[in-house]
Amino acid sequence: MAKTQPILVTGGAGFIGSNFILQWLATEGTPLISLDKLTYAGNLSNLEQVASDQRYSFVQGDICDRKLVQNLLARHRPSAIVHFAAESHVDRSIHGPDDFIRANVNGTFALLEEARAYISGMATDEKSRFRFLHISTDEVYGSLEPDEPPFSEATPYNPNSPYAASKAASDHLVRAYHHTYRLPTLTTNCSNNYGPFQFPEKLIPLTILHASEGKPIPVYGDGQNVRDWLFVEDHCSAIRTVLSLGRVGETYNIGGKSEKPNLEIVRTICTILDELRPHDPVVPHKNLITFVQDRPGHDRRYAIDTTKIDRELGWRPRQTFDTGIRSTIQWYLAHDGWIREVTSGAYRQWIATQYSM
Ligand code: NAD
Ligand code: TYD
Repeated sequence: MAKTQPILVTGGAGFIGSNFILQWLATEGTPLISLDKLTYAGNLSNLEQVASDQRYSFVQGDICDRKLVQNLLARHRPSAIVHFAAESHVDRSIHGPDDFIRANVNGTFALLEEARAYISGMATDEKSRFRFLHISTDEVYGSLEPDEPPFSEATPYNPNSPYAASKAASDHLVRAYHHTYRLPTLTTNCSNNYGPFQFPEKLIPLTILHASEGKPIPVYGDGQNVRDWLFVEDHCSAIRTVLSLGRVGETYNIGGKSEKPNLEIVRTICTILDELRPHDPVVPHKNLITFVQDRPGHDRRYAIDTTKIDRELGWRPRQTFDTGIRSTIQWYLAHDGWIREVTSGAYRQWIATQYSM
């Protein structure tokens, strides 16, 4: 019997990648290789519970290292590459865009080139089964006015931050590799995720941590910027759906149908914490909300039209924001060991640079 082909996951030690690996191993039989550079955002303890699973193996390395990628593809002969690896934080991209161009643009290019060489040696039926699934963001579409319809797959690209521009560039490369070389690609553009293992530089985990520790909760500008929030496990199930059912060469938008202004998100977290942690240093927690200087070029509103993935592939989110945010808060409150680990030295330096308050 032929050996089951694994999938290759890049960025599997990050927030969404590690949730994806946990879900994959819990639901699919196939083995998985995770390639991750372990930047500040990558953390192997996210995957502690599967570390001894025979179907999971980890390789520390950079997606820009073409020799390494070439060897991994030749040795393991994966049936798919699921590409999460990226620099992902908008504020960091404003402070230092170089890493974003390198990881997101050059890194995706390196993977595409090696995937192209890899499939060129395949028999037709193996080639027709191979997939390159590129994980991207709704931020490539730019900013919506309050009365504009949500982003669809036909919305023109209009990236505004260095992060969004680097992801847009990578999306264009993926598209071109399908169009020019017939690489069997799929691209997903998802809205803001939240849930377990998110690095506490992003709004939701940062708010939970600061609120429970009695520190100021920084809200940019007037707090009325709108994001469409999706629980991370729903994003992972959408990715699995696209991988197995998506039409080659297509893009799929993924979202939570849960548009909310930032101030509402922060207030909701404070209210839940008032109930769960009545003895925290500052209660009511909302007294910690602090308006700070706005992010330069801050996109006003994102929203996603999920009609295509719903109608074509039958995917829709299972969690509402109310259920997802409560379980996320409970997860953070129950995992202070993880929080201590990820918020050591370098994290403190970032908070000091970004929020001088
Ligand atoms: P993250 O920052 O938590 O994790 C990124 C991971 O990639 C880390 O483990 C890091 O070590 C790894 N990595 C970075 N550069 C690398 C390189 N050169 N080689 C190998 N590994 C490298 O990011 P995330 O929030 O999990 O996002 C994952 C993907 O999903 C990204 O492509 C991001 O653009 C996309 N996305 C994220 C969101 C969101 O809300 N977080 C929404 C939509 C799309
Ligand atoms: P973030 O979690 O960084 O995700 P993204 O920039 O990819 O949408 O930010 C979500 C929203 O929250 C965004 O409008 C910026 C805002 N925000 C704050 O108001 N304060 C903060 O400290 C952070 C990190 C974000």
